[in-house]
Amino acid sequence: ASTSRREATVPSTCRDTSELVDISWDNLGFGLVPTDYMYITKCSQGGNFSKGELQRFGNIELSPSSGVLNYGQGLFEGLKAYRKQDGSILLFRPEENGLRMRMGAERMCMPSPTVDQFVEAVKMTVLANKRWVPPPGKGSLYIRPLLMGSGSVLGLAPAPEYTFLIYVSPVGNYFKEGLAPINLVVENEFQRATPGGTGAVKAIGNYASVLKAQTAAQAKGYSDVLYLDSVHKRYLEEVSSCNVFVVKDKIISTPAIKGTILPGITRKTIIDVARSQGFQVDECYITVEELLEADEVFCTGTAVVVSPVGSITYLGGDKELQSISVSLTLGTTLELACILSAANLLVCIYKLKD
Ligand code: COI
Repeated sequence: ASTSRREATVPSTCRDTSELVDISWDNLGFGLVPTDYMYITKCSQGGNFSKGELQRFGNIELSPSSGVLNYGQGLFEGLKAYRKQDGSILLFRPEENGLRMRMGAERMCMPSPTVDQFVEAVKMTVLANKRWVPPPGKGSLYIRPLLMGSGSVLGLAPAPEYTFLIYVSPVGNYFKEGLAPINLVVENEFQRATPGGTGAVKAIGNYASVLKAQTAAQAKGYSDVLYLDSVHKRYLEEVSSCNVFVVKDKIISTPAIKGTILPGITRKTIIDVARSQGFQVDECYITVEELLEADEVFCTGTAVVVSPVGSITYLGGDKELQSISVSLTLGTTLELACILSAANLLVCIYKLKD
């Protein structure tokens, strides 16, 4: 039988995993810590995913001519599970990731699990690996769902078979700065996305194409790169791995979702909670000149959560280096970060039960 037809249950060997693994929880960064189990299911083009199974975490086999390897037909998601003081494990809005994966799959000509299947698979994977969910305050379990064309193709076409897989890893802070403000440089040579492209979905290729600028920026001491739009080269888009917000005179703005920006789930949550707290939040075009006059700048994302930005460097068209330092005025950013962690507890969470 194919893996997709097997019964999806947590193997008895991983049912009693209430103990924490013995690792140094204080030194988690954002790197892979191999865990116990991964979830996997397959389906054919035009078919539907059936319930998958948990397998020991490890390498997978792919044909050299698989769609994902040859033509980048693949998507990923990212979400987190947290351990609370009472030992329960909570998920942050997993159905939003399931929905976003469906939108991305449609763009990339792939079948996708239903939102219910997605959430069920996430829960199974987290439960099977629950001894890897860090203690409260020490980090989180990062959940990485992948959807890929695993079948063989040679001519350019959708793959004949797809794999939906989830693996997890305990993580700490994304940026090496930890919770300290990061330094961004505005990218003025490369673009991340173009209108009509795949910038609004989590296509794996979107992330490969930012590596060159990111690596060059990091070599110069910047934390990451902030992209401008590819048409006017003037409006803010997003950072390589997260969305961006600007605060000026207590008004919060963020680039509008218009096909080239990833609709971040943390972005959406921050907008909702900020508005519910009485803040004005504008989703709009933001020029690089407005950015350079901001009181505060911060980034949001699953991996980065809410990251304050300490400085922005922009080498403008006149090649004159402009730099702003925003590290002294983090009031609104910190307030929103606190509200987000409260929202985390109060509204947006699944409580997992054994
Ligand atoms: C996430 O925040 O989950 C992302 O997808 C960013 C990733 C590049 C680490």
